[in-house]
Amino acid sequence: MYSNRPGADHREERIKQSWKANATAWTDVVREGRIESRRLATDEAIVSAVLRYGARRVLDVGCGEAWLARALAGHGLEVTGVDGSAELIEQARALGEGRFEVITYEQIVAAPERLAGPYEGIVCNFALLGETITPLLLALRPRLAEDGRLFVQTVHPFTACGDEPYVDGWRTETFANFGARFREPMPWYFRTMGSWLRAIHEAELRVGECLEPVHPFTGRPLSLLLVCEPGG
Ligand SMILES: C[S@@+](CC[C@H](N)C(=O)[O-])C[C@H]1O[C@@H](n2cnc3c(N)ncnc32)[C@H](O)[C@@H]1O
Repeated sequence: MYSNRPGADHREERIKQSWKANATAWTDVVREGRIESRRLATDEAIVSAVLRYGARRVLDVGCGEAWLARALAGHGLEVTGVDGSAELIEQARALGEGRFEVITYEQIVAAPERLAGPYEGIVCNFALLGETITPLLLALRPRLAEDGRLFVQTVHPFTACGDEPYVDGWRTETFANFGARFREPMPWYFRTMGSWLRAIHEAELRVGECLEPVHPFTGRPLSLLLVCEPGG
C-alpha cells in the first residue's frame, strides 16, 4: 500500500471490500439506470469526451460492471477494463464487448507493465476513491500513447462537499439512496478542486480541458471531468 497516514490503508482496503460486497446491487443500479446524474449528464459526458479525442484503444481503470467499455465498444473502440473486484469483473465478462481483468490499483502501481498499451485513452470514471492517487496516475501515464489523454470523471467538489467544510477528508457513502441491497458502506476521500489539480500536477500531467456537466434543470454541477495530457 502507498499511504503513510494512520488509518488510510485500512480505509483503502475497505473501499475494495465494499465493491466486492456490493457488486450485485451496484450492477443492478447501473444497468437499470437508477443514478439520475448518470442518466442526465455524466454518462454522455465521458462517452462523448473519449470519442471527441479520437481514441481507438481505451483502458477503463476501475471499470466496474463495464457499462462504459460496452458503450465505447459500441462505437468501434477497443476497450480493456480492469478492476479490483472479481465480482464486478465477472459481471463485465458476462456481457462481453471488451477484455476484462481483475487487477487492483496497488497491483498496477507495483507492475504497470501488466496493463500493456499504449492507449489513446485511459479513463477513470468515478473510480478514484482513495486518498493517495498520485502513484496510480504516475503508473498510468507511461501507458498513454504519445497523443493520448487520461480522462478523470469524479463527483464535483462544489456539490459533493454538501454541508461539510470544503477541505480534503474522508467521508462515507452509505448507498442509502439505492435501496437495501447494498451490504457495506464505502469510505471515500473528498478532495477540493485545488487538491484534484495538485494530484494531476504531481503525476506529471496537465489539464488540457476541464468539463463540468450540469443538471439540465437546476444548473448545479453534476461532475468534474478532467482531460489530462502528459507534460505537467
Ligand atoms: C463507483 S465504481 C465506478 C465503476 C465504473 N467506472 C462506472 O463508471 O460505473 C468504482 C470502481 O472502482 C473500483 N476500485 C476502487 N478502488 C480500487 C482499487 N484499489 N483497485 C481496483 N479497483 C478499485 C471498484 O471496484 C469499483 O468498480
